[in-house]
Amino acid sequence: MDVTIFGSGYVGLVTGACLAEAGNHVVCIDVDPDKIALLNSGGIPIYEPGLEELVSSNHAAGRLVFSTDAAFGVQHGLFQFIAVGTPPDEDGSADLKHVLAVAQTIGQHMDNYRVIVDKSTVPVGTADKVAACVQAALAARNIDVDFDVVSNPEFLKEGAAIEDFMRPDRIIVGTDNPRTAELLRALYAPFNRNHDRVMIMDVRSAELTKYAANAMLATKISFMNELSNIAEAVGADIERVRVGIGSDPRIGYQFIYPGCGYGGSCFPKDVRALAHSARAIGYEAQLLTAVEAVNERQKDLLFQKIHDYYRGELAGRTVAIWGLSFKPNTDDMREASSRRLIEALWQAGAAVRAFDPAAMDETQRLYGDRPDLTLTPDAMSAVAGADALVIVTEWTQFRSPDYAEIKERLTDPVIFDGRNVLDPTQVLAAGLSYISIGRLP
Ligand code: UGA
Repeated sequence: MDVTIFGSGYVGLVTGACLAEAGNHVVCIDVDPDKIALLNSGGIPIYEPGLEELVSSNHAAGRLVFSTDAAFGVQHGLFQFIAVGTPPDEDGSADLKHVLAVAQTIGQHMDNYRVIVDKSTVPVGTADKVAACVQAALAARNIDVDFDVVSNPEFLKEGAAIEDFMRPDRIIVGTDNPRTAELLRALYAPFNRNHDRVMIMDVRSAELTKYAANAMLATKISFMNELSNIAEAVGADIERVRVGIGSDPRIGYQFIYPGCGYGGSCFPKDVRALAHSARAIGYEAQLLTAVEAVNERQKDLLFQKIHDYYRGELAGRTVAIWGLSFKPNTDDMREASSRRLIEALWQAGAAVRAFDPAAMDETQRLYGDRPDLTLTPDAMSAVAGADALVIVTEWTQFRSPDYAEIKERLTDPVIFDGRNVLDPTQVLAAGLSYISIGRLP
């Protein structure tokens, strides 16, 4: 089938590459000529395991084409995916200008029936706005062409996006038109094996499902973070509590890991946007507001712990940080807890030596060269000459370090474990102090 995808960012590229891999002819359109040039020359603008190979093989096979020519894109695909960004406005609401600009472009160039698919995370009611934009552009051309707007939210996790697309838990299709539902079902058939994962529903329920999924997951995390603080205060161990409650299948073990807060481009933005949408219709979403407030407080927690440990005397100290990305297997630092910590340490007069397996370039891009930031080529070099070590992101390679070497390199042998990934017994046995998120020493 012929597919066009507007937006060659994270979601657009993964969707395009996977649909091409399934044998479709995919055209990816982006307004950024540099990005399109990079993709056409075999490069890839983001870090995602497996994506580069998938893009290059399908590009070489001619099934995946990159272009800035929007008119060509609209002509090409029966399916017109909108996978452009919805950055948060200052008030937390999702800014739809890119989505609606694509809708207008589609309306300006379409001559035949098109299925317009909202893949971007967009508030309830956006499909109606997209339809109105397309209709207005058609009216301006004095023509009448049939089209449908479908909500088909993505549920990709950074670092596992290809796997999530190829083997989805669910394929949500929001449309009131049975004919369109069948077209989407056919497009997704290669990814819908073993049992039927396509869930057809009305457009608004599909739009809300995306936010509901992320808000639920963020709620689980904030709940556990709240509990970890209570555990610490009452002298209990949150990790034992986690194992204890996760054994109940109604609760489950996933997404109940306490830590120094959730980050990324999705949870913080989506929780805020959903609360904002509710507020806009006069409903105060108290739980969502609390989920965000708990997360904000949790992101400050590591700094608080370091501050308390040194009794506020941080000026002139050097802190080693392991992990800068918002989670392992990505170089993405959007809303990463590491940033909050680094900036607070600088504010307090401390210097930072940092290492991340993937996000070094991104850190350099964000902060540039400065005397209080040293980016080291490996984890142990970050520790050399630092006072304390802080683990902010749970990359596998940080989980069982050489404790003796850490102790030797730190001037004050203490580890702040922001993700509870180390074995406290081993840390203490090595003669290091250990400060965690809600664990007993
Ligand atoms: C999230 C969702 O998990 C995806 O299902 C969704 O499709 C995606 O957002 C999206 O809307 O695009 P992602 O942001 O890539 O995916 O990352 P997650 O793996 O969900 O992690 C988010 C944050 O929560 C990370 O900072 C992570 O460290 C933190 N986290 C996760 C915890 O603190 N504790 C946990 O138990 C799990």
